[in-house]
Amino acid sequence: MTYKHRAIIDSIPGYKQGKPAPVTQGQRSFKISSNENPFEPLPSVVKAIEQQALGTINRYPDMRGWELVERLAAMDGVEPENVVLGCGSSEVITQLVSLVAGPGDEVIYPWRSFEAYPIIVAGAGASSVQVPNLPDGSHDIDGIIGALNEHTRLVILNNPNNPTATSLSDADARRVMEAVPSDVLVLFDEAYFQFNTEPNTNVAMDLFREYPNIVVAHTFSKAYGLAGLRVGYGVAPADVIDGMRKVSLPFAVSDVAQRAAKASLDVSVELGERVQAIIAERDRVVAALRSQGWDFAEPYANFFWLALGERTDEAAAIFTQAGLSVRVFSGEGIRITIGEPEANDTVIDVCQQLKTQGF
Ligand SMILES: Cc1ncc(COP(=O)(O)O)c(C=O)c1O
Repeated sequence: MTYKHRAIIDSIPGYKQGKPAPVTQGQRSFKISSNENPFEPLPSVVKAIEQQALGTINRYPDMRGWELVERLAAMDGVEPENVVLGCGSSEVITQLVSLVAGPGDEVIYPWRSFEAYPIIVAGAGASSVQVPNLPDGSHDIDGIIGALNEHTRLVILNNPNNPTATSLSDADARRVMEAVPSDVLVLFDEAYFQFNTEPNTNVAMDLFREYPNIVVAHTFSKAYGLAGLRVGYGVAPADVIDGMRKVSLPFAVSDVAQRAAKASLDVSVELGERVQAIIAERDRVVAALRSQGWDFAEPYANFFWLALGERTDEAAAIFTQAGLSVRVFSGEGIRITIGEPEANDTVIDVCQQLKTQGF
């Protein structure tokens, strides 16, 4: 059917969700395509949902999520007025883009990066300015600075970058901040910052205290393992938060999600240990692949990137045969999430097989 709609939507691909684990009789399979946390929810988090949230699902949640907002503000050393919740940090980013950019405005971000950026920007009617990454997959800071002009309404930095897992240095983040006019906002999307072990990286919350135009997006989906509940948050100057709240989806963060997030903050030590375990697994996989002869940029997230170019689809088929669903970017490369140890062992085996096939 032909129907009247915004032509800009035709220019964007829809979001492609990571595929579920392949099903093959008699073979154990794993989903390592969505950068999820492989650990099951902690019992105390499940208990908080069961005991505190399930009995009130006939009611709307607190739209401001005040109790959780206060906890997050205290944790990050800001005022509650500096914090907004979102249905995942995806919604936080959407709120921000809707607030600052519309037709005729430009949003600059590195590419390849989080695949929701072009969708969110097009959804707002604004234009994407995609700055290709450097050959090692890191942000091209000169390119980003060079793309600034009078139409720029937002710059997005993704640290560590999805899908290339590269880290942004403190010096490079500051170069961007010095170049961007102080009335143009810069979003630091730090969905995976807990996994970033690069010593020279910045933590955007530190920069937030130094520059007036920073917005930080964090999520409970990755390190906290609550991807299915959809809760993230943004930290920004209070007037920016006011604007973001005006364009937010009403009641987007359920009471179940808010309770689970609060319960997760109560067990941050255990969750931190899980993050360390995932980092240890990542380092184990990276060391094994290096000894097989793979050469790729050091990953600083709970995933890593193999730039396989033209042979990407061929390699992807071998991962699937081994019972692994990975995230495939045809013609570019494969993003592999660090999963359960058995999944990681299979990744190492597949990579060895690829090497023997001349990859
Ligand atoms: C870089 C980046 N930012 C933000 C998100 C959004 O995550 P969520 O909406 O689950 O918080 C993701 C999810 O994969 C991501 O990779």
